[in-house]
Parts: sequence; structure tokens; C-alpha cells
Amino acid sequence: IRIFISRDSASVSVGSVRIARLVCEEAAVRGLILETALTGSRGLFWLEPLVEVETPGGRIAYGPISPSDIGSLFDADFLTGAEHPLRLGRLEDQPYLARQQRLTFTRCGIVDPLSVEDYEAHGGYAGLRRALSLEPQAIVNEIKLSGLRGRGGAGFPTGIKWDTVLHAQADRKYIVCNADEGDSGTFGDRMLMEGDPFSLIEGMTIAGLAVGAAKGFIYIRSEYPYAYRTMTDAIALATKAGCLGPSLMGSGQAFTLETRLGAGAYICGEETSLLDSLEGKRGMVRAKPPLPAIAGLFGKPTLINNTLSLATVPWILANGGQVYADFGMGRSRGTLPIQLAGNVTRGGLIELAFGATLREIVEDFGGGTATGRPVKAVQVGGPLGAYFPASMLDLPLDYETLAAEKGLLGHGGIVVFDDSVDLSQQARFAFEFCAAESCGKCTPCRVGAVRGVEVMDRIIAGIEPEKNFEVLEDLCTLMTDASLCAMGGLTPLPVMSALTHFPEDFDKAPQVPA
Ligand code: NAI
Ligand code: SF4
Repeated sequence: IRIFISRDSASVSVGSVRIARLVCEEAAVRGLILETALTGSRGLFWLEPLVEVETPGGRIAYGPISPSDIGSLFDADFLTGAEHPLRLGRLEDQPYLARQQRLTFTRCGIVDPLSVEDYEAHGGYAGLRRALSLEPQAIVNEIKLSGLRGRGGAGFPTGIKWDTVLHAQADRKYIVCNADEGDSGTFGDRMLMEGDPFSLIEGMTIAGLAVGAAKGFIYIRSEYPYAYRTMTDAIALATKAGCLGPSLMGSGQAFTLETRLGAGAYICGEETSLLDSLEGKRGMVRAKPPLPAIAGLFGKPTLINNTLSLATVPWILANGGQVYADFGMGRSRGTLPIQLAGNVTRGGLIELAFGATLREIVEDFGGGTATGRPVKAVQVGGPLGAYFPASMLDLPLDYETLAAEKGLLGHGGIVVFDDSVDLSQQARFAFEFCAAESCGKCTPCRVGAVRGVEVMDRIIAGIEPEKNFEVLEDLCTLMTDASLCAMGGLTPLPVMSALTHFPEDFDKAPQVPA
């Protein structure tokens, strides 16, 4: 009898490993022999810890399981897929999953993350096999055709970036994966690395073939020790299987990979400070130009892409760029792995073609707030993203629509707030976050963020509101126009969106002098 339990950090945090152990112990007591497969998560986090049982009718899920449920599960003969109040049926039939279009996350939560054989049995390495038969320019053209854009935040066309690196002349080039997933409410990179690490390895290998790089690095944030270990182990396994190393699948073409762990700085998610950190220095933002594509790691042309951009590449090569481009809307092609979090009933990973509305995500998938109170605001795109009011939930999620509404899609994180949130406090938090995470290189951000906290404190205290709103707007304009990178340049986005959409939260009673 085979059961599947998630070893994803989010599942482990709610007790999945403990449940796995207790289920095995109970099986032993009852004289049953169990084979436990530890997988990644399917991303339906409110159902974790959950156990799936292999049956002739597919994997039957039970969850969320607490230790006290284990006896009754065995009594009900759940290992045959029998009825029980916690029986969910096949997860694929749950509307939450059935309505998704999982391309990047197609294998996550299904395969054994540390088995090359299982990966290949589920379609893995088809993309690399095809790439090995193509000229570099043809691989790049396939990515261009797909319309894939950077999933890290900036949404820059991936194919154009690859083209720049391909045509840069140098004795050595690098592939760097930005897995420094620091945005609030995001977890897609982590889930992918813990649940389907070979897709990232395969994507980076294809990128190496495309641009002429034989070496790659995966830069993982320090808060993800489990993803780091999984990726490191997966690299060793892929190398042993001949899918990485001096002769990829016997082709004679080489590509090697290494993992690196960050040290806890949000700014190292910015590509140039990430490169500084990789070189062993303190992560400080570099002025652009030169672009990393021309002079990046150790001064060499470097292709730096987000985890999810790179992990989507195998699907594109295996299925064709045009098939990927057939998903989506406008200039936002393909699918977006949305990470739904915050005050929401059903948080999780929702991969959908671009164009789904915020309402579909927050209400249909998310089931509204966990507290049962009305949704007041959603922040889209991490700590530098805008707050939108409930009246704007019909906005479709694509790069251009959000930019037109003075927001950004960022890394696809959506954080939900109920009507107890005070948006003036959130605006203050945006400055506070920037002050804590600024690399300090440029004045508008280093000093502006601190001044921002001060001016917000005065507004919240109701001190000279007219004067302080003027200072706030001035400061935001300065930070937007004069900051060196997105950290300082985008901090005004959450602040101004809060002020624009929730002015009532800024209308504080004036302070009465004692
Ligand atoms: P950007 O628009 O300056 O650049 C986008 C990307 O395209 C960069 O990788 C750049 O090097 C590359 N690029 C531009 N022109 C190119 C060309 N002709 N050839 C090759 N490559 C080219 O944006 P930036 O400043 O890199 O990123 C800003 C975004 O990053 C923001 O939207 C922000 O939300 C996001 N961000 C995400 C973080 C995270 O933790 N995921 C952390 C910090 C920022
Ligand atoms: Fe550093 Fe902030 Fe300037 Fe970016 S905007 S370079 S984080 S000081």
C-alpha cells in the first residue's frame, strides 16, 4: 500500500511529517506494510496535513488530518480509499485544482522531488532532449515565441533577455537563478524547489545551451533551508544520472550547477545586489548599465532569471512556444502562478492563464476572508505592490492592467485584508520596510524611507495634516524619480495607493495639545 504525504515546508509547519510518522506507526501496530512517498505540496494549504492513498481509482486524499483522526481513519479502512468524514476524493476533482491550468506546477505535489526516474516518468527532460537537438538561436526563438516574461517582478520578455546574452561575446557566461523570494505573501519559488526541483535544473540547463553558458548558480534565500537542501540534493542526483555535468545526456555539451544561500537581505532579490552577494560581497545595488546580460557575475555576461521563469522553460520546449502563448491575454502570455495568502479562507497556489480577475481569486478560489469579515483591501505584488479596494476586485490580472492602475503584478503574490485593517498603518509599514531593507546606496531611499516613517507618524497622530500630506506627496515623487532601484522607487506605490483608495483611513482626529 502506497501513501503520499507532502514534505513541503508549509505542510511540515502544520504537522505533515508527524502525521506521516503516526500513520506508519499505526499501520505497523495493525500489521500493515506501508510505503510512504514524500512529495511536494499540491498547494491547497488549508487541507494540510493531508494524506493521499494510491488506489485503482487514483490517489484518494484525506485531510486536514490531526493526530486524533488516525485511529478512525484506519478503522474506516482508509487505505482502500473508503468513506470517512475527512475523505476529499481525488484532489484533481476539487474545484480549486480542477479549475487551474497547471503548466509550471504540473508535477508539483505529484512526483517524488528527489527521483530523476519519477521526474522523467511524468514528462521531465523532454524539453532538454529537444533543446539538445536545436541550435542555440532556435531555443531562444522558442522562448520568444512563447511570450514568457520575467516572473520575478519586472515582467521583462525572457526571450529578449536570452537573445542579449546569446549575442554577448565573452570567454565565459553564467546562468543565475534568482530564488531570493522575499516578497510578502509569496511562496511559489519555494514550493517549486521543494516539490519539483528537476524542472528548475532542466530549465537552467536549457538556458545554458541557449546562451552558451556552462555554469549556473541558484541563489536561495536563507529563510529557505529546506529548499536549499532539496535543490542541492537534486543537483547531485541529476549529475549522477548524466543530466548535468561534462556531457549532458551523452551529448558532449557541458553544464554544471551550484546552490548558494543568501544571508537574509530582501535587497539581494534585486538582480545586481544578488550578483554582488554571489561574488562574496555585501549585497549592494549596482548602477545599470551595464546590464547583467552584458556584464554580470564576475563581469561576464549573465542570464539572471527568476525561479518560476526558468522552471517554465522545460514545458515550453517540450510543448512548443506557441502552445504556451495560446494561454493568457494581451501581452501577458501563458500562465501566472498566483500565491494567495493573508486573511483568506483557502490560501494556496493557483496557476491560471493571465486574465483571471482578482474577484475570482479572492472569492471563488479563496472563499473570502478567514475571519468572515468583508474584504477591505488586497495587496498585489509584494511589499512594493499597490493596495486595491474591494470595489476594484474585477480587475484582470495581467501586467498592463495593473500597471495602468498604478500597481504591479510583481511575483504574483496576493495578500488579503479584512475591514479591520488601517491603511494608514500599512502605508507607514511600507516606509518602515524600506528603511529596514534599503541597501543604503542612494539618498532618496536611504533617507527618504526614514523621513517617510516620520511623516506617516505625524499624519497618524493628526498633526498638521495639510502640511504633512504635502510633504508625503513630495517625498513619494522624489523617491519614485530619483531612487537607483525598485526598492526605493516602488515604495511609494503601496503608500500612494493606500492614500488614493482609502483616504478615510488617513483622516485622523487632530491631536489636542495637553
Ligand atoms: P527592470 O525593468 O530594470 O529590468 C528587468 C529585467 O530585464 C532585468 O533583469 C534587466 O537586467 C533586464 N533587461 C532590461 N533590458 C534588457 C535587454 N535589452 N537585454 C537583456 N536584459 C535586459 O527591472 P528590475 O529593476 O530588475 O526589477 C524590478 C522589479 O523587480 C520590480 O517589479 C520589483 O517588484 C521586483 N523585485 C522583486 C523582488 C523579489 O523578491 N522577487 C525583490 C526586489 C524587486
Ligand atoms: Fe539601495 Fe534603496 Fe537605492 Fe535601491 S533604492 S539602490 S535599495 S538605497
